[in-house]
Amino acid sequence: MNRTIKRWTLSQRPDATPTTDCFELVDFELPPLEANQVRIKTHYFSVDPGMRGRLSGDSYAAALPLGAVIESAGIGEIIETSSERFVVGDMVMGGLGWSQGVVQIDRGLQKLDPALFDDKVRITASIGVMGVPGLTAWFGLQDLGRPKQGETLLVSSAAGPVGATAGQIGKSLGLKVVGIAGGTEKCAYVDSLGFDAVIDYKAQKTQSQLIQAIQGACPDGVDIYFDNVGADMLDAAISAMRPHGRIVVSGQIAEYNRPDPHGIRNVTNFITHRLNMAGLVVYDYAKQFPEAQAAIAGLIRRDQLIYSEDISNGIDGAPEAFIGLFSGQNHGRRLIRV
Ligand SMILES: NC(=O)c1ccc[n+]([C@@H]2O[C@H](COP(=O)([O-])OP(=O)(O)OC[C@H]3O[C@@H](n4cnc5c(N)ncnc54)[C@H](OP(=O)(O)O)[C@@H]3O)[C@@H](O)[C@H]2O)c1
Repeated sequence: MNRTIKRWTLSQRPDATPTTDCFELVDFELPPLEANQVRIKTHYFSVDPGMRGRLSGDSYAAALPLGAVIESAGIGEIIETSSERFVVGDMVMGGLGWSQGVVQIDRGLQKLDPALFDDKVRITASIGVMGVPGLTAWFGLQDLGRPKQGETLLVSSAAGPVGATAGQIGKSLGLKVVGIAGGTEKCAYVDSLGFDAVIDYKAQKTQSQLIQAIQGACPDGVDIYFDNVGADMLDAAISAMRPHGRIVVSGQIAEYNRPDPHGIRNVTNFITHRLNMAGLVVYDYAKQFPEAQAAIAGLIRRDQLIYSEDISNGIDGAPEAFIGLFSGQNHGRRLIRV
């Protein structure tokens, strides 16, 4: 790998849906190694909807400074090391960013044992179904959703990596699972994952049609709503919640590009139905990640969890891949093969 690498930086703060001119591809000279550092050649990195907030301001973490590399999960190979923790050739996972390579301290990296990966549990799963999206589904559903066998789980953006995983974990726990996704192709995919019913929200022309569709698919009401979307879809789900229902706020993608939030309208239902709503930041569960990753790998190996990846080649297309998340272009976990 050359000392000079390409990486994407933030050049302008978006105030609505991001455009490609918010990002700049720059050449960067990686420095020589200091003590306890490694040089990593990036093989894959992710584009994540959750990064949207930090492009404009403070979010679950501080705003990304202008000129900074866009942060993301990545998989890379150690090509030079002054650390005792790693040898040349080790594969690692960490926050490598939208970059062809990085020199960094040897902390905050997870060594990936090649023996743990094969055709079923692919190495890319470590930044997908066994990484942030899968872990969000795992902890959001189990810790905040508090599922009980036989309950009804409703999941929005059910064809996405978080939603598809949450729904399948729900099935493995004995829940009735209903997904919401956009368009016939994505709904067919969600159906193929074993969900009990799927709602195509794009085929519902009005808010009352969306509410009717949810009530039709969940005739006993919704016990757990796993929300990846927010806005009108959240309002529709609230109107279908059963007493003592739990709303897990995983993501609010329909809000991320709005200058003024849509907000929640059906607040009175929280009183009448004793509803509970809670948000999570998956990193709060970091100490429990290894156990959850092993359990997720087990579900995959037992064919109880299918995951889909949407991988494109080349660092140049990263901004388009990211922007496409907000118009439903991704089919599964969107990664860039560098
Ligand atoms: N809390 C945490 O710690 C945490 C961690 C990771 C991710 N998240 C959040 O979890 C959510 C899901 O993430 P993901 O990685 O699995 O991505 P994802 O669900 O694949 O996100 C992209 C998808 O969102 C849907 N979408 C986009 N704009 C929409 C809109 N206005 N209305 C309805 N649907 C819309 C589209 O699917 P359709 O084609 O079906 O519309 C699109 O393909 C995101 O909101 C993300 O921010 C939270």
